[in-house]
Amino acid sequence: MTDFTEEEIEAGRLLFAGPCDFLKGVVALDGLPPADRVEFCFAGRSNVGKSSLINALTGRKALARASNTPGRTQEINYFDLGGRFWMVDLPGYGYAEAPKALVARWQELLRAYLAGRPTLRRALVLIDARHGLKAVDLEILDLLDSSAVSYQAVLTKADKLKASDLARIVEAVRAGLAKRPAAHPVLHVTSSETGAGLPELRAEIAALG
Ligand code: GTP
Ligand code: MG
Repeated sequence: MTDFTEEEIEAGRLLFAGPCDFLKGVVALDGLPPADRVEFCFAGRSNVGKSSLINALTGRKALARASNTPGRTQEINYFDLGGRFWMVDLPGYGYAEAPKALVARWQELLRAYLAGRPTLRRALVLIDARHGLKAVDLEILDLLDSSAVSYQAVLTKADKLKASDLARIVEAVRAGLAKRPAAHPVLHVTSSETGAGLPELRAEIAALG
């Protein structure tokens, strides 16, 4: 983990302590809000913890819905973060149990969104710390590489591992990302449960805009 200065940490804290409001859920590209500010999104396979991370970052229990049912977030959900950023919660990728036609529609929407949003500054790709990079994660990374979107990996659910196992996974994920030029080199290790890694991630996001 790269160090952040006290000022950067404080800027992140202030950003996420301020207003953050749900704007809308988008199901088609013509529903996107104006591309009038810096945007970042949370991507990752179904159930990896995207909505939980948004709730934890903002300190709000139910800003983004989180659930035990994979595939819960089915729209591109937009949040207005302090009037400075569009923060976007993407539908979970690779949820196999949803009807095929629905999966195809989400993936098409995701693809079109990633390729066609010029203000999208970074995709934060969440990876379950218990599993590391799996085939479905690699699919997301491939999609981002081919869309030329700058992205950065965030390990989630770090509280579920022993420190030694976590260190091993961190190294493996780092190695897996090192070959990918569009990947930002800093890997964030987080837990929405304990709050670990969140001040640094807030600082990283605040520095995007
Ligand atoms: P989809 O919307 O279906 O794509 O899922 P999601 O990526 O938004 O996942 P969500 O935030 O709904 O979390 C899925 C499950 O993981 C829930 O049961 C959460 O409580 C749990 N979870 C998420 N983050 C953490 C974490 O940091 N630690 C632990 N222990 N559990 C977590
Ligand atoms: Mg979700």
